[in-house]
Amino acid sequence: MAKIAVVVGSTREGSFNRMLGKLAIRALQAQGAAVTDVDLADFDLPLYSAAIEAGAFPADAQRLKEIFAAQDGLLFVSPEYNGSVSPLLKNAIDWASRPTGGESLVALSAYRGKASAIMAASISPFGGLRGLIHLRQILSTIQTLVIPEQVLIPNAHAAFDEDGHLKEALPASLVDLTAARLVAVARALSA
Ligand SMILES: Cc1cc2nc3c(=O)[nH]c(=O)nc-3n(C[C@H](O)[C@H](O)[C@H](O)COP(=O)(O)O)c2cc1C
Repeated sequence: MAKIAVVVGSTREGSFNRMLGKLAIRALQAQGAAVTDVDLADFDLPLYSAAIEAGAFPADAQRLKEIFAAQDGLLFVSPEYNGSVSPLLKNAIDWASRPTGGESLVALSAYRGKASAIMAASISPFGGLRGLIHLRQILSTIQTLVIPEQVLIPNAHAAFDEDGHLKEALPASLVDLTAARLVAVARALSA
């Protein structure tokens, strides 16, 4: 069974990306994946600082890193902030990229060899595309294999119904397709 963690780059009350993340979790589970819902509100992560790291590696950064390391695949759902990923998500990705326990600087043990996928919901008509371009590059830099499929939800404030489902069939089908491809690639890479 493919193990997939879902990480949402917003902890805002009523977050559209959290809504999209919930749909993605259900789609991944429908593909037979064992999903870990990583709520960044549950992690006490200081803004990355070499001085903090040199003192004591934050316990929650270690916990996040171990969760990532235990997966076959990672799904990131991020808002776009000023054309890039949210600082909340970037900081979490950065902490989990750091070597611990005598690892080499380039070990990237939380990421290397895993499949990843990206999604965004935005109130703009562009759906957070610029943020996903950055996120794709970041995830490649840390040695994950980012699948080509991705999901953009533009005009997110009008995209979900009262039950949290997407009103339009096409983006809903892309969530399912992306989830299916992530599970397939994660399975293949971990075989
Ligand atoms: C600092 C900041 C910068 C933003 N920049 C962008 C942007 O560049 N592009 C965009 O589509 N939306 C931008 N937004 C609006 C977000 O898309 C919107 O707040 C969205 O609801 C955030 O996602 P969430 O609902 O998951 O919290 C920005 C919001 C904030 C707070």
